[in-house]
Amino acid sequence: MKMHALAAALTVLLMACACLPLTAAASAPQQPVVLVIGGSGRTGLEMMRAVNAAGLHARGMTRDGERTSRTHPALDWVTADARDPQALRLATQGVQYVICAIGAPAVDGPDAPQFVDYLGVVNVIDAAVAAGVQHFVLVSSGSAGPHREPRETPRLGYILLWKTLAENHLKGSGLDYTIIGPGGLDATPANKEGLVVLPRSQYTGATVSRRDVARVAVDALTNTQADGKSFALINRQDAETETWREQLHELPADATDTTAIENLSWLAGHWTRAGQGAAIEELWLPADAGIMLGINRSVTAAGARAFEWLRIEERADGVYYLAAPGGGQTTEFKLLASDRRRARFASPTNDFPRTIEYRRDADKLTATVDGTLDGKPVSLSWTWSLQQSLRVPFLPPQMQH
Ligand SMILES: NC(=O)c1ccc[n+]([C@@H]2O[C@H](COP(=O)([O-])OP(=O)(O)OC[C@H]3O[C@@H](n4cnc5c(N)ncnc54)[C@H](OP(=O)(O)O)[C@@H]3O)[C@@H](O)[C@H]2O)c1
Repeated sequence: MKMHALAAALTVLLMACACLPLTAAASAPQQPVVLVIGGSGRTGLEMMRAVNAAGLHARGMTRDGERTSRTHPALDWVTADARDPQALRLATQGVQYVICAIGAPAVDGPDAPQFVDYLGVVNVIDAAVAAGVQHFVLVSSGSAGPHREPRETPRLGYILLWKTLAENHLKGSGLDYTIIGPGGLDATPANKEGLVVLPRSQYTGATVSRRDVARVAVDALTNTQADGKSFALINRQDAETETWREQLHELPADATDTTAIENLSWLAGHWTRAGQGAAIEELWLPADAGIMLGINRSVTAAGARAFEWLRIEERADGVYYLAAPGGGQTTEFKLLASDRRRARFASPTNDFPRTIEYRRDADKLTATVDGTLDGKPVSLSWTWSLQQSLRVPFLPPQMQH
Protein backbone atom coordinates (compact mmCIF):
# COMPACT_ATOMS: atom_id res chain seq x y z
CA MET A 1 0.00 0.00 0.00
CA LYS A 2 1.39 3.41 -0.93
CA MET A 3 1.96 5.86 1.92
CA HIS A 4 -0.78 8.29 0.95
CA ALA A 5 -3.29 5.40 0.65
CA LEU A 6 -2.22 4.17 4.11
CA ALA A 7 -2.64 7.67 5.54
CA ALA A 8 -6.09 7.95 3.99
CA ALA A 9 -7.10 4.57 5.42
CA LEU A 10 -5.87 5.60 8.87
CA THR A 11 -7.80 8.87 8.65
CA VAL A 12 -11.03 7.00 7.83
CA LEU A 13 -10.37 4.59 10.73
CA LEU A 14 -9.71 7.44 13.14
CA MET A 15 -12.86 9.27 12.04
CA ALA A 16 -14.87 6.12 12.59
CA CYS A 17 -13.30 5.67 16.06
CA ALA A 18 -14.07 9.29 16.95
CA CYS A 19 -17.75 8.54 16.49
CA LEU A 20 -17.96 5.24 18.32
CA PRO A 21 -19.96 5.23 21.54
CA LEU A 22 -17.54 5.61 24.43
CA THR A 23 -19.29 3.57 27.06
CA ALA A 24 -21.52 0.54 27.12
CA ALA A 25 -20.42 -0.02 23.54
CA ALA A 26 -19.34 -3.62 23.71
CA SER A 27 -22.73 -4.91 22.63
CA ALA A 28 -25.68 -3.22 20.97
CA PRO A 29 -28.37 -2.16 23.47
CA GLN A 30 -31.49 -4.35 23.64
CA GLN A 31 -33.83 -1.36 23.89
CA PRO A 32 -34.50 1.15 21.08
CA VAL A 33 -31.71 3.76 21.01
CA VAL A 34 -32.56 7.45 21.43
CA LEU A 35 -29.74 9.71 20.29
CA VAL A 36 -29.85 12.90 22.35
CA ILE A 37 -28.00 15.57 20.39
CA GLY A 38 -26.67 17.99 23.00
CA GLY A 39 -27.09 15.30 25.69
CA SER A 40 -24.34 16.96 27.72
CA GLY A 41 -26.28 20.24 27.96
CA ARG A 42 -28.51 21.27 30.84
CA THR A 43 -31.72 20.21 29.08
CA GLY A 44 -29.97 17.35 27.26
CA LEU A 45 -28.94 15.70 30.54
CA GLU A 46 -32.55 15.77 31.74
CA MET A 47 -33.51 14.18 28.42
CA MET A 48 -30.89 11.43 28.91
CA ARG A 49 -32.27 10.57 32.34
CA ALA A 50 -35.90 10.69 31.18
CA VAL A 51 -35.15 8.44 28.17
CA ASN A 52 -33.51 5.79 30.36
CA ALA A 53 -36.29 6.07 32.95
CA ALA A 54 -38.79 5.35 30.15
CA GLY A 55 -37.04 2.04 29.40
CA LEU A 56 -35.33 3.23 26.21
CA HIS A 57 -31.58 3.50 25.74
CA ALA A 58 -30.21 7.05 25.83
CA ARG A 59 -27.05 7.80 23.86
CA GLY A 60 -25.81 11.34 24.28
CA MET A 61 -23.94 13.20 21.57
CA THR A 62 -21.30 15.72 22.59
CA ARG A 63 -18.26 17.30 20.97
CA ASP A 64 -16.08 15.94 23.78
CA GLY A 65 -17.05 12.42 24.77
CA GLU A 66 -13.99 11.81 26.97
CA ARG A 67 -14.70 14.83 29.16
CA THR A 68 -18.44 14.08 29.31
CA SER A 69 -17.98 10.40 30.14
CA ARG A 70 -15.72 11.44 33.04
CA THR A 71 -18.45 13.69 34.48
CA HIS A 72 -21.31 11.29 33.65
CA PRO A 73 -19.75 7.81 33.53
CA ALA A 74 -23.00 5.87 33.90
CA LEU A 75 -24.37 7.24 30.63
CA ASP A 76 -23.60 6.24 27.03
CA TRP A 77 -21.80 8.93 24.97
CA VAL A 78 -20.81 9.37 21.35
CA THR A 79 -18.47 12.09 20.11
CA ALA A 80 -19.50 14.14 17.09
CA ASP A 81 -19.81 17.76 16.05
CA ALA A 82 -23.15 18.67 14.49
CA ARG A 83 -21.30 20.74 11.89
CA ASP A 84 -19.65 17.57 10.56
CA PRO A 85 -22.12 15.59 8.36
CA GLN A 86 -19.75 12.61 8.05
CA ALA A 87 -19.44 12.23 11.84
CA LEU A 88 -23.23 12.44 12.14
CA ARG A 89 -23.74 9.64 9.62
CA LEU A 90 -21.72 7.39 11.95
CA ALA A 91 -23.30 8.69 15.15
CA THR A 92 -26.85 7.99 13.88
CA GLN A 93 -26.17 4.39 12.90
CA GLY A 94 -28.46 1.97 14.73
CA VAL A 95 -30.51 4.82 16.19
CA GLN A 96 -34.33 4.60 16.25
CA TYR A 97 -35.19 8.04 17.68
CA VAL A 98 -33.53 11.47 17.90
CA ILE A 99 -34.04 14.29 20.37
CA CYS A 100 -32.13 17.39 19.34
CA ALA A 101 -31.42 19.92 22.11
CA ILE A 102 -28.24 21.64 20.95
CA GLY A 103 -27.73 25.33 21.36
CA ALA A 104 -25.06 27.67 20.01
CA PRO A 105 -22.36 28.48 22.58
CA ALA A 106 -21.61 31.89 20.96
CA VAL A 107 -23.46 34.65 19.10
CA ASP A 108 -20.91 34.98 16.30
CA GLY A 109 -18.05 33.08 14.73
CA PRO A 110 -18.15 29.34 13.92
CA ASP A 111 -20.16 28.53 17.09
CA ALA A 112 -22.91 31.03 16.21
CA PRO A 113 -26.59 30.03 15.81
CA GLN A 114 -26.22 30.10 12.02
CA PHE A 115 -23.78 27.18 12.22
CA VAL A 116 -25.15 25.29 15.24
CA ASP A 117 -28.91 25.96 15.56
CA TYR A 118 -29.34 25.99 11.78
CA LEU A 119 -26.61 24.18 9.78
CA GLY A 120 -25.82 21.77 12.62
CA VAL A 121 -29.49 20.89 13.11
CA VAL A 122 -29.99 20.53 9.34
CA ASN A 123 -27.06 18.10 9.28
CA VAL A 124 -28.61 16.13 12.14
CA ILE A 125 -31.98 16.01 10.33
CA ASP A 126 -30.36 14.81 7.09
CA ALA A 127 -28.40 12.12 8.96
CA ALA A 128 -31.63 11.02 10.71
CA VAL A 129 -33.37 10.72 7.33
CA ALA A 130 -30.50 8.59 5.97
CA ALA A 131 -30.56 6.39 9.11
CA GLY A 132 -34.33 5.78 8.84
CA VAL A 133 -35.06 7.33 12.25
CA GLN A 134 -38.67 6.77 13.38
CA HIS A 135 -39.35 10.06 15.15
CA PHE A 136 -37.41 13.31 15.59
CA VAL A 137 -38.04 15.74 18.46
CA LEU A 138 -36.53 19.20 18.03
CA VAL A 139 -36.16 21.54 21.01
CA SER A 140 -36.53 24.99 19.48
CA SER A 141 -37.91 28.09 21.20
CA GLY A 142 -41.32 29.41 22.22
CA SER A 143 -40.48 32.61 20.36
CA ALA A 144 -39.43 30.95 17.08
CA GLY A 145 -41.79 29.74 14.36
CA PRO A 146 -43.48 30.75 11.15
CA HIS A 147 -46.02 33.21 12.61
CA ARG A 148 -43.33 35.75 13.58
CA GLU A 149 -40.85 37.74 11.51
CA PRO A 150 -37.53 36.49 12.91
CA ARG A 151 -35.50 38.45 10.33
CA GLU A 152 -36.41 41.52 12.37
CA THR A 153 -34.99 40.07 15.61
CA PRO A 154 -31.19 40.32 15.49
CA ARG A 155 -30.90 39.36 19.20
CA LEU A 156 -28.31 36.61 19.95
CA GLY A 157 -27.04 36.31 16.37
CA TYR A 158 -30.53 36.05 14.80
CA ILE A 159 -31.08 32.86 16.79
CA LEU A 160 -34.85 32.89 16.26
CA LEU A 161 -34.39 33.15 12.51
CA TRP A 162 -31.94 30.24 12.43
CA LYS A 163 -34.14 28.09 14.66
CA THR A 164 -37.17 28.82 12.45
CA LEU A 165 -35.24 27.86 9.30
CA ALA A 166 -34.12 24.61 10.96
CA GLU A 167 -37.76 23.89 11.88
CA ASN A 168 -38.74 24.40 8.22
CA HIS A 169 -36.08 21.91 7.19
CA LEU A 170 -37.47 19.34 9.63
CA LYS A 171 -41.04 19.90 8.41
CA GLY A 172 -39.86 19.28 4.86
CA SER A 173 -37.68 16.27 5.67
CA GLY A 174 -40.34 13.58 5.45
CA LEU A 175 -39.52 12.53 9.04
CA ASP A 176 -42.19 12.07 11.70
CA TYR A 177 -41.46 14.98 14.02
CA THR A 178 -42.44 17.10 17.01
CA ILE A 179 -41.16 20.65 17.59
CA ILE A 180 -41.16 21.83 21.20
CA GLY A 181 -40.82 25.57 21.76
CA PRO A 182 -39.98 25.93 25.45
CA GLY A 183 -40.32 29.12 27.41
CA GLY A 184 -37.30 30.32 29.43
CA LEU A 185 -35.70 27.13 30.79
CA ASP A 186 -35.15 26.70 34.52
CA ALA A 187 -34.19 24.02 37.05
CA THR A 188 -37.60 23.61 38.73
CA PRO A 189 -38.35 19.94 39.54
CA ALA A 190 -40.68 18.09 37.15
CA ASN A 191 -44.42 18.15 37.95
CA LYS A 192 -43.96 20.95 40.50
CA GLU A 193 -46.12 23.38 38.56
CA GLY A 194 -48.87 22.99 35.98
CA LEU A 195 -47.65 22.32 32.45
CA VAL A 196 -49.30 23.94 29.43
CA VAL A 197 -49.05 23.15 25.70
CA LEU A 198 -50.15 26.08 23.55
CA PRO A 199 -49.86 27.28 19.93
CA ARG A 200 -46.79 29.46 19.62
CA SER A 201 -48.92 32.28 18.22
CA GLN A 202 -50.30 32.54 21.80
CA TYR A 203 -46.91 32.43 23.52
CA THR A 204 -46.02 35.73 25.14
CA GLY A 205 -43.22 34.63 27.47
CA ALA A 206 -43.05 32.38 30.55
CA THR A 207 -40.68 29.83 32.06
CA VAL A 208 -40.65 26.05 32.00
CA SER A 209 -38.77 23.37 33.93
CA ARG A 210 -36.09 21.54 31.91
CA ARG A 211 -37.35 18.31 33.46
CA ASP A 212 -40.89 18.97 32.27
CA VAL A 213 -39.54 19.64 28.75
CA ALA A 214 -37.69 16.32 28.96
CA ARG A 215 -40.76 14.30 29.93
CA VAL A 216 -42.84 15.84 27.12
CA ALA A 217 -40.00 15.20 24.63
CA VAL A 218 -39.68 11.54 25.62
CA ASP A 219 -43.45 11.08 25.49
CA ALA A 220 -43.49 12.62 21.98
CA LEU A 221 -41.15 9.92 20.62
CA THR A 222 -43.96 7.38 20.58
CA ASN A 223 -47.13 9.46 21.10
CA THR A 224 -48.99 9.69 17.77
CA GLN A 225 -50.82 12.75 19.15
CA ALA A 226 -47.53 14.66 18.99
CA ASP A 227 -46.69 13.76 15.39
CA GLY A 228 -46.38 16.68 12.96
CA LYS A 229 -47.05 19.26 15.69
CA SER A 230 -45.19 22.37 16.86
CA PHE A 231 -46.07 24.07 20.14
CA ALA A 232 -44.91 26.24 23.02
CA LEU A 233 -44.44 24.59 26.42
CA ILE A 234 -44.67 26.55 29.66
CA ASN A 235 -45.31 26.10 33.37
CA ARG A 236 -48.27 27.85 34.92
CA GLN A 237 -49.04 27.57 38.61
CA ASP A 238 -52.82 27.50 38.16
CA ALA A 239 -52.73 24.67 35.57
CA GLU A 240 -52.90 20.93 36.28
CA THR A 241 -49.67 18.98 35.85
CA GLU A 242 -51.20 16.60 33.29
CA THR A 243 -53.65 18.78 31.30
CA TRP A 244 -50.94 19.25 28.66
CA ARG A 245 -51.88 15.81 27.30
CA GLU A 246 -55.41 16.97 26.42
CA GLN A 247 -54.06 20.23 25.01
CA LEU A 248 -51.62 18.28 22.83
CA HIS A 249 -54.48 16.07 21.65
CA GLU A 250 -56.57 19.10 20.68
CA LEU A 251 -53.72 21.02 19.05
CA PRO A 252 -53.97 20.74 15.24
CA ALA A 253 -51.02 19.34 13.27
CA ASP A 254 -48.89 21.88 11.40
CA ALA A 255 -50.72 23.29 8.39
CA THR A 256 -50.91 21.17 5.27
CA ASP A 257 -52.80 23.82 3.31
CA THR A 258 -52.63 22.99 -0.42
CA THR A 259 -52.51 26.70 -1.28
CA ALA A 260 -49.21 27.23 0.58
CA ILE A 261 -46.10 26.44 -1.44
CA GLU A 262 -43.98 26.21 1.74
CA ASN A 263 -45.66 22.85 2.38
CA LEU A 264 -43.80 21.43 -0.62
CA SER A 265 -40.39 22.12 0.91
CA TRP A 266 -39.77 18.35 1.15
CA LEU A 267 -39.21 18.44 -2.62
CA ALA A 268 -36.20 20.77 -2.36
CA GLY A 269 -32.82 19.15 -2.93
CA HIS A 270 -30.62 17.47 -5.51
CA TRP A 271 -32.13 14.10 -6.51
CA THR A 272 -30.20 11.62 -8.65
CA ARG A 273 -30.77 8.26 -10.27
CA ALA A 274 -28.48 6.11 -12.38
CA GLY A 275 -29.74 3.04 -14.21
CA GLN A 276 -31.06 1.63 -17.46
CA GLY A 277 -28.23 3.31 -19.35
CA ALA A 278 -29.16 6.84 -18.23
CA ALA A 279 -28.37 9.20 -15.37
CA ILE A 280 -31.37 11.32 -14.44
CA GLU A 281 -31.18 14.17 -11.98
CA GLU A 282 -33.65 16.73 -10.74
CA LEU A 283 -32.80 19.76 -8.67
CA TRP A 284 -35.31 21.88 -6.74
CA LEU A 285 -34.63 25.16 -4.96
CA PRO A 286 -36.67 25.63 -1.77
CA ALA A 287 -39.74 27.86 -1.83
CA ASP A 288 -39.12 31.56 -1.38
CA ALA A 289 -41.50 34.42 -2.16
CA GLY A 290 -44.05 31.94 -3.54
CA ILE A 291 -41.87 30.16 -6.09
CA MET A 292 -39.79 26.96 -6.35
CA LEU A 293 -37.50 26.46 -9.35
CA GLY A 294 -36.43 23.10 -10.72
CA ILE A 295 -34.40 21.53 -13.52
CA ASN A 296 -34.35 17.99 -14.80
CA ARG A 297 -31.60 16.46 -16.95
CA SER A 298 -31.19 12.95 -18.40
CA VAL A 299 -27.96 11.80 -20.00
CA THR A 300 -27.51 8.36 -21.60
CA ALA A 301 -24.23 6.44 -21.72
CA ALA A 302 -24.17 7.17 -25.47
CA GLY A 303 -24.25 10.91 -24.70
CA ALA A 304 -27.88 11.65 -25.68
CA ARG A 305 -29.41 14.30 -23.46
CA ALA A 306 -32.77 15.75 -22.52
CA PHE A 307 -33.70 18.51 -20.11
CA GLU A 308 -36.69 20.31 -18.67
CA TRP A 309 -37.25 23.69 -16.95
CA LEU A 310 -39.62 23.35 -14.04
CA ARG A 311 -41.26 25.68 -11.59
CA ILE A 312 -43.95 25.59 -8.93
CA GLU A 313 -45.62 28.90 -8.19
CA GLU A 314 -48.31 30.27 -5.96
CA ARG A 315 -51.15 32.11 -7.67
CA ALA A 316 -54.35 33.70 -6.41
CA ASP A 317 -56.33 30.52 -7.17
CA GLY A 318 -53.82 27.91 -6.02
CA VAL A 319 -50.40 26.38 -6.65
CA TYR A 320 -49.27 25.45 -10.19
CA TYR A 321 -46.51 23.17 -11.55
CA LEU A 322 -45.11 24.35 -14.87
CA ALA A 323 -42.97 22.13 -17.09
CA ALA A 324 -41.13 23.19 -20.24
CA PRO A 325 -39.48 20.08 -21.75
CA GLY A 326 -36.38 20.99 -23.77
CA GLY A 327 -36.96 24.64 -22.87
CA GLY A 328 -39.97 24.71 -25.24
CA GLN A 329 -43.70 25.07 -24.65
CA THR A 330 -44.86 25.21 -21.03
CA THR A 331 -47.67 22.99 -19.72
CA GLU A 332 -49.43 23.91 -16.48
CA PHE A 333 -50.63 21.45 -13.84
CA LYS A 334 -52.68 22.56 -10.84
CA LEU A 335 -51.94 21.22 -7.35
CA LEU A 336 -54.91 19.07 -6.33
CA ALA A 337 -53.68 17.60 -3.07
CA SER A 338 -50.57 17.60 -0.91
CA ASP A 339 -49.36 16.61 2.49
CA ARG A 340 -46.01 16.29 4.27
CA ARG A 341 -44.75 13.72 1.76
CA ARG A 342 -46.91 13.86 -1.34
CA ALA A 343 -48.13 16.28 -4.00
CA ARG A 344 -50.45 15.58 -6.91
CA PHE A 345 -50.82 17.96 -9.87
CA ALA A 346 -53.17 17.64 -12.86
CA SER A 347 -53.78 19.16 -16.29
CA PRO A 348 -57.13 17.69 -17.43
CA THR A 349 -56.75 18.90 -21.04
CA ASN A 350 -53.29 17.37 -21.51
CA ASP A 351 -53.18 13.80 -22.79
CA PHE A 352 -49.75 12.95 -21.41
CA PRO A 353 -48.96 13.49 -18.70
CA ARG A 354 -52.38 14.28 -17.29
CA THR A 355 -51.28 13.91 -13.69
CA ILE A 356 -47.88 14.23 -12.01
CA GLU A 357 -47.34 12.93 -8.50
CA TYR A 358 -44.27 13.33 -6.30
CA ARG A 359 -43.86 11.22 -3.19
CA ARG A 360 -41.06 11.42 -0.66
CA ASP A 361 -40.01 8.46 1.51
CA ALA A 362 -37.05 9.40 3.73
CA ASP A 363 -34.15 10.02 1.29
CA LYS A 364 -36.04 8.76 -1.78
CA LEU A 365 -38.27 10.74 -4.12
CA THR A 366 -40.64 9.03 -6.57
CA ALA A 367 -42.30 10.80 -9.49
CA THR A 368 -45.22 9.11 -11.23
CA VAL A 369 -46.77 10.47 -14.41
CA ASP A 370 -50.07 9.17 -15.80
CA GLY A 371 -52.07 9.86 -18.96
CA THR A 372 -52.89 8.43 -22.37
CA LEU A 373 -50.67 7.95 -25.40
CA ASP A 374 -52.34 6.93 -28.70
CA GLY A 375 -55.52 6.35 -26.75
CA LYS A 376 -53.88 3.88 -24.36
CA PRO A 377 -53.36 4.51 -20.63
CA VAL A 378 -49.68 4.94 -19.74
CA SER A 379 -48.08 5.25 -16.31
CA LEU A 380 -44.36 5.88 -15.74
CA SER A 381 -42.45 6.11 -12.48
CA TRP A 382 -38.92 7.09 -11.39
CA THR A 383 -37.27 6.98 -7.99
CA TRP A 384 -34.35 9.26 -7.16
CA SER A 385 -32.04 9.28 -4.13
CA LEU A 386 -31.29 12.44 -2.19
CA GLN A 387 -27.79 13.48 -3.17
CA GLN A 388 -27.72 16.65 -1.15
CA SER A 389 -30.33 18.73 0.61
CA LEU A 390 -30.07 22.42 -0.16
CA ARG A 391 -29.21 23.95 3.13
CA VAL A 392 -27.72 27.44 2.96
CA PRO A 393 -30.49 29.97 2.47
CA PHE A 394 -29.68 33.14 0.61
CA LEU A 395 -29.77 35.97 3.13
CA PRO A 396 -28.84 39.64 3.11
CA PRO A 397 -25.18 40.16 4.14
CA GLN A 398 -26.05 41.76 7.49
CA MET A 399 -27.55 38.46 8.63
CA GLN A 400 -24.48 36.41 7.70
CA HIS A 401 -21.78 35.71 10.27
N1 LIG B 1 -31.95 28.71 27.88
C1 LIG B 1 -33.21 29.03 27.67
O1 LIG B 1 -33.88 29.71 28.45
C2 LIG B 1 -33.89 28.52 26.39
C3 LIG B 1 -35.18 28.92 26.09
C4 LIG B 1 -35.81 28.39 24.97
C5 LIG B 1 -35.12 27.48 24.16
N2 LIG B 1 -33.84 27.13 24.48
C6 LIG B 1 -33.16 26.14 23.64
O2 LIG B 1 -33.16 24.89 24.33
C7 LIG B 1 -32.04 24.10 23.90
C8 LIG B 1 -31.28 23.58 25.12
O3 LIG B 1 -30.81 24.67 25.87
P1 LIG B 1 -29.82 24.44 27.12
O4 LIG B 1 -29.76 25.76 27.83
O5 LIG B 1 -30.19 23.22 27.85
O6 LIG B 1 -28.44 24.18 26.33
P2 LIG B 1 -26.94 24.11 26.92
O7 LIG B 1 -26.95 23.71 28.35
O8 LIG B 1 -26.26 25.40 26.55
O9 LIG B 1 -26.31 22.92 26.08
C9 LIG B 1 -25.96 23.10 24.74
C10 LIG B 1 -25.62 21.75 24.16
O10 LIG B 1 -25.31 21.94 22.78
C11 LIG B 1 -24.18 21.14 22.48
N3 LIG B 1 -23.48 21.72 21.32
C12 LIG B 1 -23.13 23.01 21.11
N4 LIG B 1 -22.51 23.13 19.92
C13 LIG B 1 -22.47 21.89 19.37
C14 LIG B 1 -21.95 21.37 18.15
N5 LIG B 1 -21.35 22.14 17.23
N6 LIG B 1 -22.08 20.04 17.92
C15 LIG B 1 -22.67 19.23 18.83
N7 LIG B 1 -23.18 19.67 20.00
C16 LIG B 1 -23.07 20.99 20.26
C17 LIG B 1 -23.33 21.14 23.73
O11 LIG B 1 -22.55 19.97 23.74
P3 LIG B 1 -20.96 19.93 24.06
O12 LIG B 1 -20.55 21.29 24.54
O13 LIG B 1 -20.81 18.86 25.09
O14 LIG B 1 -20.36 19.54 22.76
C18 LIG B 1 -24.42 21.07 24.80
O15 LIG B 1 -24.76 19.71 25.02
C19 LIG B 1 -31.23 25.01 22.99
O16 LIG B 1 -31.59 24.75 21.63
C20 LIG B 1 -31.71 26.40 23.37
O17 LIG B 1 -31.54 27.34 22.33
C21 LIG B 1 -33.21 27.63 25.57
